[in-house]
Amino acid sequence: MTAMSRRVFLMGGVSLFPYLYLERLAVAVRRYRVQIRNLPPSFEGFTLLHMSDLHEKEFGPNQQDLIGLLSKERFDAVAITGDMVRGDHPSQVQTLDLVSGLRKISQERPIYFVSGNHDWRLERGKEFEGVLQDAGVQVLSNRSERLERGEDRLWMVGVDDPVTGRDRLGLALSGTDQRSPRLLLSHSPHPFKKAAGKGIDLMLAGHTHGGQVRLPLLGASFVPAMGFFPRYDYGLYRLGATTLIVSGGLGESGVPLRFNMRPEIALITVASSQAPR
Ligand SMILES: [Fe+2]
Repeated sequence: MTAMSRRVFLMGGVSLFPYLYLERLAVAVRRYRVQIRNLPPSFEGFTLLHMSDLHEKEFGPNQQDLIGLLSKERFDAVAITGDMVRGDHPSQVQTLDLVSGLRKISQERPIYFVSGNHDWRLERGKEFEGVLQDAGVQVLSNRSERLERGEDRLWMVGVDDPVTGRDRLGLALSGTDQRSPRLLLSHSPHPFKKAAGKGIDLMLAGHTHGGQVRLPLLGASFVPAMGFFPRYDYGLYRLGATTLIVSGGLGESGVPLRFNMRPEIALITVASSQAPR
């Protein structure tokens, strides 16, 4: 390597790190439109704001940069699929700031939450769920909630963290009916095949960070508890009549860098489908 090319190489390396660091703060807004069988007319266009894997990250003081971005969007409910904390000394402040900001901009719109593997690192994971409930969040720990608009209904179902083996899909679905759409929140994509077997219409998951450092063409090289080059690492998948959307998440675990995978929130709008059931 000549002295000149060495200098160019070093300059490239030095300038890459600020880029990788800044990429982690530039939140992308992803939009999906998913067709759902037997969607009741009053839920046509129902939009979920999906967020995941905050990992204690801060987007401005009290999360005001993120809340400012979200305040420009229209949504009917919020789905948070876990891993809000990280590390051995987890902090709840960043999550509570986010929830408090969401409460202000979303008024009475419901906020649903399922726990991830990092959330269970808190000394008492159940206490974290209690704190969120006190803040007005509906924790779907292997259970469901019914959303109603007049005579029409839609089920919001949630499983506890699959990475640590706490998910009980059968229990979560007990009490729901198949006549109304069932939307499943799960921290990780692990229960996707089971969900398809149970006829879930739409499943939202996180955990993968899309790889966090995402290789062009190859995707996520490694995801904890999912191994090397996992199949369901990011984006939209279909299995039978079930659609899975995997979020790239907002925060980082390990090194605070992202590449080819900006932090993101997703707006997922459901529409009716004419497909036979
Ligand atoms: Fe996770």
